[in-house]
Amino acid sequence: MPSSRRQFIKSAAAIGSLMALKFSSLASAAAATGLRQVFKDDFSIGTAIPTKLLASRDAGKLDLVAREFSAITAENAMKWQEIRPELNKWRWTLADRLVDFGAEHRMQVVGHALVWHSQVPDAVFFDASGKPLGKKALLARMEEHINTLVGRYQGQIAIWDVVNEAFAAGRWRKSRWFNQIGKDYFEQAFRYAHEADPKAQLIYNDYGMGNPKKQQSVISAIKACRARGVKVHGVGMQSHLHLDGPSLRNIEKAILAFAKADLRVHITELDVDVLPQIDNYDGAEISTDFAYAEELNPYAKGLPAKVQQQLTRRYEDVFKLYIKHKDKIDRVSLWGTSDDESWKNNWPVKGRTNYPLLFDRNRQPKPAYHAIANLR
Ligand code: G3I
Repeated sequence: MPSSRRQFIKSAAAIGSLMALKFSSLASAAAATGLRQVFKDDFSIGTAIPTKLLASRDAGKLDLVAREFSAITAENAMKWQEIRPELNKWRWTLADRLVDFGAEHRMQVVGHALVWHSQVPDAVFFDASGKPLGKKALLARMEEHINTLVGRYQGQIAIWDVVNEAFAAGRWRKSRWFNQIGKDYFEQAFRYAHEADPKAQLIYNDYGMGNPKKQQSVISAIKACRARGVKVHGVGMQSHLHLDGPSLRNIEKAILAFAKADLRVHITELDVDVLPQIDNYDGAEISTDFAYAEELNPYAKGLPAKVQQQLTRRYEDVFKLYIKHKDKIDRVSLWGTSDDESWKNNWPVKGRTNYPLLFDRNRQPKPAYHAIANLR
């Protein structure tokens, strides 16, 4: 091989390794300051805090959360079933810990979720004799719950997921709230929340918001609220994504549709499922449950490099889109910090090994973390 060619290859290799060093050192620089610093001029960047972490107060994990994130959401601790398992029994400890931790580290605390069809004790919908509550009585119970919970954290919780998943595509979800109150429950939940904390940002949260029918249902319900003077500040696009869908175009069209309706956009529960989809099922309908099968759990022993690269690319692509629309997006929250915590290890199939988040099972930043950190 002529020496000039050998020389060229040697210097190209040197440049290559320098680039790799630069890339990794740039990435580690981001890791030292945290994503909250990286995206400080774009949007707040958050994570969901599992009940287990609030209970254990694992210092190492909490330090990592404090360094990396500027917003936190209780994954479960503020849901009706966890914070008020019986009508006259409130369990404040873990919710108080989340709010105190957020205050200590100057984070936005997100309250999740005031009115949802899931994780609500049956007793909420019945009177003492076991008869289903009528509209007036159930609204009174909803108002009392929201008043007590939102009121307790007035001025400390910046954002509330007031209503969660009220629509199934283009129609109202037939939840107990809907069946026993009618569609007024939607507006009343926002009215009660605003009365309990006039300064809190109130959002409607849902999955599959790329579905035009759902978008239109959400926008018209919120427009109806606003027409009657009821505050709704924005929408939460949960964003439980897969490696190959929904498309960036679909996500962008949803962001644009909500922004056009004068709604702030929050990405509230971002994760990227790398495992085989079942029956092409997509979304986060929590009642979904599929039987375990080996072929549905291909990466139990580790994630192949090729899939890690696809995951990295997917995170890079969606964050480029979020940055492009940072004028419309107030917050981007992951639904968990490290892969071991993720609900996606057990949904829609129990007992799988998934890799949907930015930190691995050893709490180390993954290539996807460095890729998004290096976008700024
Ligand atoms: O705390 C109990 C524990 O005492 C018990 O031993 C264990 C065994 O069943 O269950 C534990 O509760 C589980 C809880 O997570 C805490 O781990 C519930 O069964 C389980 O249903 C619950 O799942 C949560 C799910 O919402 C339903 O509330 C997931 O962690 C949580 O990630 C998921 O999050 C939802 C959002 O709130 C709304 N958007 C969709 C998203 C995914 O479904």
